Amino acid sequence: MFIPSLFKDQVAVVTGGGTGIGLAIARRLGELGARVVIGSRNSANLEKGSAELRLAGLDPLAVQIDVRNPEQVDEMVERTIRHFGRIDILVNNAAGNFVCQAEELSPNGWNAVIGIVLNGSFYCSRAVGRHMIARGGGGAIVSILANYVWTGSAGTIHSAAAKAGVMSMTQTLAAEWARHKIRVNAVAPGPIESPGAAKQLWATADDVQRITDMVPLGRWGRPAEVADAVAFLAAPGAGYITGEILTVDGGTWLGRGTFGFM
Ligand code: HXC
Ligand code: NAP
Repeated sequence: MFIPSLFKDQVAVVTGGGTGIGLAIARRLGELGARVVIGSRNSANLEKGSAELRLAGLDPLAVQIDVRNPEQVDEMVERTIRHFGRIDILVNNAAGNFVCQAEELSPNGWNAVIGIVLNGSFYCSRAVGRHMIARGGGGAIVSILANYVWTGSAGTIHSAAAKAGVMSMTQTLAAEWARHKIRVNAVAPGPIESPGAAKQLWATADDVQRITDMVPLGRWGRPAEVADAVAFLAAPGAGYITGEILTVDGGTWLGRGTFGFM
């Protein structure tokens, strides 16, 4: 998998690329030869992420942006093109989430998560897709979903609905933009070690143990394992794959079986 020239001369934009899984994705695409752009709201996250990428020998462009704002998304795309000349890969990774029973969730809470995940992924895909089409086609878009796109998710209805929406968007864009040679795929992770997610979703040791017990492979995933799946889907080796959802969850969504064999 480690081919330093795999993405040579390519430019990759990773939303939410300053922390957690997004940072691992930016790092992996960079290690494989891409020039990387990371975009998110918080300048401290961007600075820390950029410093880590520089330590890995990369020279990232960091853009402060809220993906809920389509003008800021367009500006990120324009800045990237001014700086690097083109965009070949978009990773829709930015997300928001928190645990809240549906009957307690306020309209603002619903809109915050739908706005980041569903609207933000659309605004970014639209802006980058327009650039890819205008320059004659070709490119890869990979969105980060969650394994509960297959099941729904009691306790995070906003995120489950938004991620399922992005799954449908992935399949729809794959069909619409195939004629422009733009491949559109997604990765659906299960529980992955990440401080940002931990703060929002599994704050206690009991939460962590309960979730660990749900994973047939018996452990949490690592951000780099999601990054490898993204790199695979973005790479030429996946050139005949579009509209696909690759689940990276240690078997979690399959459950532990009815007959106690696990
Ligand atoms: C109930 C909550 C809440 C909570 C926020 N709200 N947190 N309601 N329980 N824990 C409500 C607020 O009260 C408000 O509604 C509305 O949501 C918007 O809140 P703000 O704080 O103003 O929003 P904002 O600053 O835009 O922040 C967005 C956010 C925040 C989504 C709420 O959590 C965030 O920035 N998250 C980014 C990082 C993140 O979530 N990472 C985890 C990704 S992991 P009212 O009505 O009061 O105005 C993941 C997948 C995990 O996605 C899958 C595991 C398998
Ligand atoms: P994380 O570190 O909290 O990542 C979320 C990122 O999104 C942050 O970098 C955040 O940066 C950015 N972001 C949030 N709102 C934004 C906005 N409005 N505009 C721009 N950027 C925004 O958590 P993570 O676990 O690495 O999550 C990364 C992705 O993996 C998400 O799509 C998540 O749904 C998915 N996922 C995670 C898990 C898991 O177990 N960890 C499982 C399944 C799926 P700023 O705060 O600087 O904006």
